[in-house]
Amino acid sequence: MKVIKVALLGFGTVGQGVYELLMKNGYIFEKKLGIQIDIKKILVRDVKKKREVKVPPELFTTNFEEILRDEEIAIVCELMGGLEPAKSYILKSLFQGKQVVTANKAVLAESGAEIFEMARSKGAFLGFEASVGGGIPVIKTLNEALIGNQIERITGIINGTTNYILTRMLEQNISFEKALDEAKAKGYAEADPSLDLKGLDSAHKISILGSLAFGIYIPFDKVYIEGIENIDLMDLKFAQSFGYVIKLIAEVKRDRDKIEIRVHPALIPEDHILTSVRLNYNAIFIRGDFVGDILLYGLGAGKEPTASAVVSDIISATEYLLSKKSPLIPYPSKKEDFKIKPIKECIFKYYFRFSALDRPGVLSKISGILGKYGISIASVVQIGRQKKRGAVPIVMLTHEAKEERVERALAEIDTLEVLKAKTKRLRIIE
Ligand code: NAP
Ligand code: HSE
Repeated sequence: MKVIKVALLGFGTVGQGVYELLMKNGYIFEKKLGIQIDIKKILVRDVKKKREVKVPPELFTTNFEEILRDEEIAIVCELMGGLEPAKSYILKSLFQGKQVVTANKAVLAESGAEIFEMARSKGAFLGFEASVGGGIPVIKTLNEALIGNQIERITGIINGTTNYILTRMLEQNISFEKALDEAKAKGYAEADPSLDLKGLDSAHKISILGSLAFGIYIPFDKVYIEGIENIDLMDLKFAQSFGYVIKLIAEVKRDRDKIEIRVHPALIPEDHILTSVRLNYNAIFIRGDFVGDILLYGLGAGKEPTASAVVSDIISATEYLLSKKSPLIPYPSKKEDFKIKPIKECIFKYYFRFSALDRPGVLSKISGILGKYGISIASVVQIGRQKKRGAVPIVMLTHEAKEERVERALAEIDTLEVLKAKTKRLRIIE
């Protein structure tokens, strides 16, 4: 029996899940593959911290150098998160000749080209299945199963925390804050949950998928990003009354010689398959020129599904280790230049929520400005009557319009004296 020694950097939600999985299911590798995976060391910040999963205390260390110097440790799993020291530990481990597995999309989205260059130069394996889609095997699908295709587009819900929050708010009428607290307690949220809420986590993930799909390194700062912080229960309910569900969507596609890459909330028709993706589930559509459309669906965040993805990479790393082969690394380097399609050139249907005084002529003023910019109204409702002072919501859906025109029209509408708050604008994706 071959024994493979592994170190975990981090023992939070994901690290503990990996440890539990290996304790519970490790016999499967022994039986099916004739290998034994042993956790030799676990790096944490605080060895005295109380942890749900019980581990022999001698496994814990706060000294990364101890792991780096240990020649028996062949695979290092970076499960700490954040940019530093995660990046340095990954680079040092690769340089030292160790195989590396990471669940850290932030570090790959920010420094992927450099990290993969190091893996390439050392002939080392770098597994990152857990970095996108939790337990969904989307990285292996793109890199292996679909490698013969020109990928045309990827569209998905790729953040469990925000999908959980939007689902709980709509279905249980609970507040944004309460839903976020639940997501944190369940271990779905990032250590800094603003990464989830502001759409940054989805942007990290879509830049990784886009880079793999198009073979061009797409830096994370090229992604257009909006989060869900401004989505009110009122918008979820209005959208529902028009037959839509609001989801945080990530999309990357080719438009002739340009790449369109964006993350933002969008209204999706309620009969669309993405609206049945609830709670911490994710779903990812991939369109390839030969395979056609495929949909991957599963748990996108949480201890168990993420551990499943990390362990699959540990086994892949073991295969390379034992065969002494160098892996093919499909992650592109920084060299190739490309153009991004600016959001202002994109065309969508829109949802507007105006906060306006309930007075004769208000609607005609708003529709007059929209008409001036060539934006055509599909439907409109005013909800309720004004009581005393204050505004009433007027909700409007439009036909397709160019984002630039919409921005200019709304800027002008918001200067009207009858408008009492900045107009809410959401895109509709059919
Ligand atoms: P977490 O619960 O916050 O755990 C982080 C762990 O890393 C803790 O054990 C912490 O030590 C340790 N750590 C952090 N900084 C360290 C440092 N400088 N030196 C030593 N140890 C350090 O995070 P998580 O949810 O498990 O996420 C880990 C990674 O997986 C992140 O990159 C995240 O984006 C990714 N991921 C998470 C999920 C999920 O559902 N949670 C899913 C997919 C991917 P202490 O315990 O001593 O504080
Ligand atoms: N915070 C992330 C999410 C974890 O909610 O999707 C999984 O990557």
